[in-house]
Amino acid sequence: MQTTNKDSKNSQVVVPWAKIVFGPDHISSTRYDDIYFSNQGRFDEGMHVFMSGNDLPRRFLEESNHFVIGEIGLGMGLNFLLATTLPRSCKLTYIAYEKHPLTISDLLQVYKQIELPASPLRERFLEEYPKLLPTDHYPTTVTHTFPAENIELILYWGDLALEAAKGLELPYLVNAWFLDGHSPKKNPELWSYPLFANLFKNTANGGTAATYSVARMVRQNLLDAGFSIRKIPGVGNKKNSLAAIK
Ligand SMILES: C[S@@+](CC[C@H](N)C(=O)[O-])C[C@H]1O[C@@H](n2cnc3c(N)ncnc32)[C@H](O)[C@@H]1O
Repeated sequence: MQTTNKDSKNSQVVVPWAKIVFGPDHISSTRYDDIYFSNQGRFDEGMHVFMSGNDLPRRFLEESNHFVIGEIGLGMGLNFLLATTLPRSCKLTYIAYEKHPLTISDLLQVYKQIELPASPLRERFLEEYPKLLPTDHYPTTVTHTFPAENIELILYWGDLALEAAKGLELPYLVNAWFLDGHSPKKNPELWSYPLFANLFKNTANGGTAATYSVARMVRQNLLDAGFSIRKIPGVGNKKNSLAAIK
C-alpha cells in the first residue's frame, strides 16, 4: 500500500511504507519476499551478530566521549533498542537509514507480537515515532535527541542505494555499522560496491561493521572497499556471520 500525504507546500508526498506480513514464526516483507526476522531468537541474534560482532559491550564502556552507530535499515528499531540496553559511558549517536518506514500501527503490532527486552527507551521511542515519520517530505532526514539517555537519533528516510550512488556525507565518522538491509539475494541493488566504498569513507579508523550475511558479494565488496573481514560463528540456523574492520 502506498500512502499519499500533502506537505505544507501542498505538493504530493508518496511514502513507500513497509508492507508487513505477520506470520506465526516470522515477520516478513512482501516488498522483498524476505523475513525481517524470526520471532524466536531475534534478540539473541541481534546481540550476537550486531552487538558482539562489533564488540560493543567492551567498546561502549571504553569510550568516554562519543560513539557513532550507523544502521542499514532501521526496520522496527529493534537493533536500536537493543543497543540502548548495553551499559555505556559515552554519548551515542545512532544514524539509521530506512527506505520503507513502518506505519505506527504496524510497529505497535510488531511490539505486541515479540517480547522486547526491557529498555528505558522503548516507551519513549514508541511515543515519539509518529512524529519522526516522513509524512511531509520523502526522502528526508529527522533528528531527535533523548537527553536522559544521552542519545541522538538521526533517521534518514529514503533509498540508501540512490544516496550511495550520489556519495554519502555523514555528519560524523561511524564507529560501528549494522548491515541489516535484507538478504543480498533479495535486495542486490542495496549491497553494491558504491555503498561499501561510501561506508568505508564514512568510517572512523578502527571502526567496524557486522552483518549476518556471508554472501560472496558482500565479502568481496567489503574487501574491495578497504575493510578487513573475518567470519565469526553464527547463531540459530546460520553457520556464520561476518565482522569487518577499517
Ligand atoms: C531486516 S530489516 C531491518 C531490521 C532492523 N534492523 C531492526 O532491528 O528492526 C531490513 C530493512 O532494510 C530496509 N532497506 C532495504 N533496502 C533499503 C534501501 N535501499 N535503503 C534503505 N533501507 C533499505 C528495509 O526496508 C528493511 O526495513
